[in-house]
This record gives sequence, C-alpha cells and structure tokens, in this order.
Amino acid sequence: MSVQPFVYSSVPQRVVFGAGSLQHLAREIDALGARRALVLSTPEQRPQAERIADMLGAHAAGVFDRAVMHVPIETAREAREVAQRLGADCAVAIGGGSTTGLGKAIALDSGLPILAIPTTYAGSEMTPIYGITEAGMKKTGKDFRVLPRTVIYDPELSASLPVGMSVTSGINAIAHAAEGLYATDANPIMDLMAQEGIAALGRALPAIRASAKDPGARSDALYGAWLCGTVLGNVGMALHHKLCHTLGGSFNLPHAETHTIVLPHALAYNAAAAPEAMARIAKALGAGNAAQAVFDLARDNGAPVALRDIGMKESDLDLACAHALTNQYPNPRPLARDAIRALLQNAWEGVRP
Ligand SMILES: NC(=O)c1ccc[n+]([C@@H]2O[C@H](COP(=O)([O-])OP(=O)(O)OC[C@H]3O[C@@H](n4cnc5c(N)ncnc54)[C@H](O)[C@@H]3O)[C@@H](O)[C@H]2O)c1
Repeated sequence: MSVQPFVYSSVPQRVVFGAGSLQHLAREIDALGARRALVLSTPEQRPQAERIADMLGAHAAGVFDRAVMHVPIETAREAREVAQRLGADCAVAIGGGSTTGLGKAIALDSGLPILAIPTTYAGSEMTPIYGITEAGMKKTGKDFRVLPRTVIYDPELSASLPVGMSVTSGINAIAHAAEGLYATDANPIMDLMAQEGIAALGRALPAIRASAKDPGARSDALYGAWLCGTVLGNVGMALHHKLCHTLGGSFNLPHAETHTIVLPHALAYNAAAAPEAMARIAKALGAGNAAQAVFDLARDNGAPVALRDIGMKESDLDLACAHALTNQYPNPRPLARDAIRALLQNAWEGVRP
C-alpha cells in the first residue's frame, strides 16, 4: 500500500536507555537545570526511592512514597504541598503508571519538571495524558506540561517486577501499539515504532517467564514499552482503550490485567475493518492471526484470559456494554450493541477469539 497523507509532530523529550543507566541520574537532573528533587514512589517501592535520594545526596529534597492507583486528588494535593514546602524544583518518579501519574498531577499544577524512571511497561512516561480521581470520578486530560522532560529506562530496575505483572504490563504496552496501528491519526513513524515495540515485547515476555531476571529480556521488554508508550502519546486510541477505561473505572478492575484480557477480543472485533494493522501485529508476533497471537501470548505465559477471573460479575456486562457505547472513541469498525455485548461475553468467559 502506498503512503497515505499524515500529520506527524515530534515532541522534545530526552530518553536515556540501558542497563545501569540510573548512574546518570545526577547528570540528568543537572541537565534539567534542577537542584532539589522530590522523589516519588508507591509505599512498596520506597526502598528504590530511598536509593535514588541517597544517590542525589544534597540534591534530594525528600521522598514522597504515597503514590497509589488512579491518582486521588487528595494525594496529588498533598504531594504538591510537600514539593512546595521542601522547595523542590523537579520531581523524580520511580515506578509504574501510578507513580508517573502522581508526578504528572504535580506538574499540571506547578509546571515542575518530571524525570521519570519507569519500572513497569505501562508507558505513561511517554504521554502528555494525565488522570486524577476526584469523588470517585477519574478525570483525564492532555497537557504537555505533564510530559516527563527526561526518562531514564534502566532495565535492571524492572527485574524485580513479578513475572505475572511483567506479562500483563507488557501486553498493556502491546495494546497501545496495536490500537495505534489503526488510529484515525496514525502515521508511518508510529507504525514503525508500534510494530517494533510489539515484536520486542513478543520475544521478551516468554523469556521473562522462563527467567525473571534475564537481562536481555528485561532490556527488550523495556525497549518495547518505550516504543509502545510513544505510540500511545502520539496517536488516538480506539475501542480497546475505551473498554478498558470503562471496565477499570466503573468496575474497579485491575489495569494491566484488564488490558491483557480485552485486547484479543477488541482486535478480533476490528480485524476485518483494519486488515493492514492486523497483518503488522501478526507479523510482529510471528503468527498468522493477530487476535489469537495476543491471546496465546497471554495464556501461554500464565496471564489471566477471562474477566470472570479478575472480579468482573456477569450481571454487570450489560451495564459495561452500555457505558462502552457512550462517548465512543473513533474505531475502525462502528460499534454495534449486540456485537460489543458478545465481545464482552467472550472476554468474560475467556474464549480464544
Ligand atoms: N497517562 C497515561 O498515559 C497512562 C498510561 C498507562 C497507564 N496509566 C495509568 O497507570 C496506572 C497503572 O500503572 P502500572 O500498570 O504501571 O501499575 P502501578 O504503577 O500501579 O504499579 C503496580 C504495582 O507494582 C509495583 N511495582 C512497579 N514496578 C515494580 C518493580 N520493578 N518491582 C516491584 N514492584 C513494582 C508498584 O509499586 C505497584 O505496587 C493506571 O492508573 C493507568 O491508568 C496512565
């Protein structure tokens, strides 16, 4: 197929990649023109945050370790106050999407530059998208102030991510790339990144399952996560992300697992309407069918494949379907109620597409 017309905007962002690249932290803080970093983490990752603070010595303003899923507004306010009180002039977010999300909430309000050190494959560090939860409602938006200025990808820091979470987080990343391939604003640069990102994760996840700390596999996975996160940050998402936002937001299902379970079914739904994208996904995974290849990648590596196994009630599927049909995201195949309801049923039962 010949190249179609497109718009491509590049975003200034610095990426430092490689095993041991955490050693460049002080240099990178300096390059930001910052002198006092507030280190952010979840409570579980406090030891890693303390290690960062130790490395920074006098350039560490302190550690704020209360990042949690979905960035509650109260936590965001508290972190902003702490940053101000300690005179922080940048924030270092070490962790997954929840910690990066807290950094973004601080940046949104204060313009504080963020240096992200991702330890999962969720990809938030490459996007200008933020989410803050207030009174049980998650509000998301797009603002380039929240995009981390610098990202240090050090695969050694993701070696502690449990195998189960590594597999689901990796498929969460694949979901960004897969939907980027059939986005209405897709472009050839993102297509390249998407296909390469899926391929890197496709070979990394089985290797991580075989040996959790395999340095080569951890590097491949984080490299794939970077590419897939870049796609998420650059082009629009479709049915799959809409379904996952609905299921996560309204039924409190876990983020990466939900992505892992829904993706094969969203791909099967869109298969006939987006054949080029499906061919690229299948090729990246060395398979003949994109939806089945993603399902097999999950199942064969021990990830959940049924919504019923992660806490979804069958009696809530009608409501989930109704939510999915409101405020629709652009999608290659129009959303038809019966077909979406069938998709949800299949995802709930864990049927191979
Ligand atoms: N804004 C965006 O562009 C964007 C993109 C993707 C995800 N997100 C958001 O990010 C959140 C999910 O992020 P996530 O899937 O990365 O999970 P997470 O950040 O919630 O992390 C899950 C758990 O794993 C722990 N963990 C992370 N890395 C670890 C490691 N290397 N070793 C041991 N434990 C580790 C964390 O401390 C946490 O307890 C969701 O709220 C989602 O909406 C946002």
